[in-house]
Amino acid sequence: MEDAEYFSIVEGTHAVQNPTSPEKLRLVAEYLGLRRGGRLLDIGSGRGWWTVHAATEGCDVTGLEINEYFAAAARRRAAEAGVAERHRIVLGPAAEFAAEPDGYDFATCLGASFALDGYRPTLEHLARTVRPGGRIAVGELHTADGTTSPELPSLTELAHVAAEFDLDVVGVVSADTDDWDRYESRQWLNAREWFDRNPDHPRRHEVLATSRAHRESYLRDERGQLGWSVLVAVVNRGG
Ligand SMILES: C[S@@+](CC[C@H](N)C(=O)[O-])C[C@H]1O[C@@H](n2cnc3c(N)ncnc32)[C@H](O)[C@@H]1O
Repeated sequence: MEDAEYFSIVEGTHAVQNPTSPEKLRLVAEYLGLRRGGRLLDIGSGRGWWTVHAATEGCDVTGLEINEYFAAAARRRAAEAGVAERHRIVLGPAAEFAAEPDGYDFATCLGASFALDGYRPTLEHLARTVRPGGRIAVGELHTADGTTSPELPSLTELAHVAAEFDLDVVGVVSADTDDWDRYESRQWLNAREWFDRNPDHPRRHEVLATSRAHRESYLRDERGQLGWSVLVAVVNRGG
């Protein structure tokens, strides 16, 4: 039952909806070289910590987000930060947004490559959307130990795929176990507190059971095995 309502509950208080932190995303911003007047497209913006940060740095931001709860939260955050005039969230599937080729200086997708059918199509899309010399950042899952499997690539493989699209990787910012634990724990806590606050909600037990099933697979199979990194790259296009 992991639909929009479920995620709005379990990720309803995360500043960043990924195993990373505002501090680490500030480093991503530095590697991207965000600057006043830069045009930035973000895929799967969530609750908007990243898009609002980019707008605060002076960028003109367009964020694409399918979940209405998250889109509303991001717009609120932008208004509170006083940057609403250069922060736009387009509600709907990212794949339906007609991004102008070469129309942006920066394009980012942090933990949402599934919105564009996976890592490879996402890189292709971002590389086409950003002008030559612009930069992209993609946050993606990979194995923690450098091996590859049919389900999960290694970090090296992610960088090699970027090279296939003439993207020159200039930065990497990776999650550690504390980042993962904080991201996961916040989901369990949100589910539990929501359950306690909503004694009459019809989906109360279902939400808690789903969160507990995720907790079990995280602790049993994933903790220490999953990597997540943001790769930052310059768009070469033959340059
Ligand atoms: C893991 S969260 C990451 C959110 C944000 N980038 C961050 O780092 O905090 C993935 C986001 O992608 C959004 N999403 C999922 N499918 C989408 C789609 N087809 N189009 C646009 N956004 C989508 C989800 O609603 C969610 O907000």
